[in-house]
Amino acid sequence: MRVIKFLALALGLSCAMSSVQARDWATIKQSGNIVVASEGAYAPFNYFQGSTLSGYEIDVMEAMAAKLGLKVEWRALSFDALIASIRQDRFDAAIASHGITEERQKSVDFTNPHYCSGGQIVTKAGGPLKAAELANKVIGVQLATTYADAAKKVTGAKEVKTFPKDTDAQQALLAGRVDAWVTDRFVARSAVEKNASAGLKTGELLFIERDAAIVRKGNTELRDNLNKALADIKADGTLRKISEKYFKEDITCQ
Ligand code: ARG
Repeated sequence: MRVIKFLALALGLSCAMSSVQARDWATIKQSGNIVVASEGAYAPFNYFQGSTLSGYEIDVMEAMAAKLGLKVEWRALSFDALIASIRQDRFDAAIASHGITEERQKSVDFTNPHYCSGGQIVTKAGGPLKAAELANKVIGVQLATTYADAAKKVTGAKEVKTFPKDTDAQQALLAGRVDAWVTDRFVARSAVEKNASAGLKTGELLFIERDAAIVRKGNTELRDNLNKALADIKADGTLRKISEKYFKEDITCQ
């Protein structure tokens, strides 16, 4: 039985390994395209418009790729699968608002940040607006995010409910199944505007973060080229323009 299990495992592993395509910079450059993953459920950063991935960071990556002479081939995956999948070389890079954290830096490499933001409390009228007011409250967050980490650190919270998508956490707040939702401050702002009749309120920023694209750990040349492209679109004003298109302000790190 043991042996069979071992064989199955070994077979599974070798199958998985044969589909691995470790794409370094030279290979990507030569192929003329870069395979980039995002999520598609995190407006205004990444979302679906019909069947097309759209949003601030989709435009940013398109502009970066253009500087590098590459076309982007997009993939959509759930947010919590992105880091594991990049470690399996399923794609070359992901851009999905990953906050730069020490923990994540152990398993992937980050480019320079394409924006600076933070995690903010969102609630309904009369709900908790400050960290201290979250005591005995139910907090809704997306799974595997820095918001989930922050919510778990809140002292005295009654429960932290995690949802596969950030929009699910938002829906839970609207439906009154959680007392507060912790999300990105620009996502929060857009949700407040879109749900005007719900009277959502934004509260305290629990933490600030720098958000960046990720590549496989050690894919240094790719990371360096993405950084150069980011610097180029910053220098020629493209990055600011994209930011103003989605946020009516410059959200890039100063
Ligand atoms: N910025 C947060 C983090 O680093 C959340 C990102 C969520 N991204 C998404 N595409 N849903 O964890």
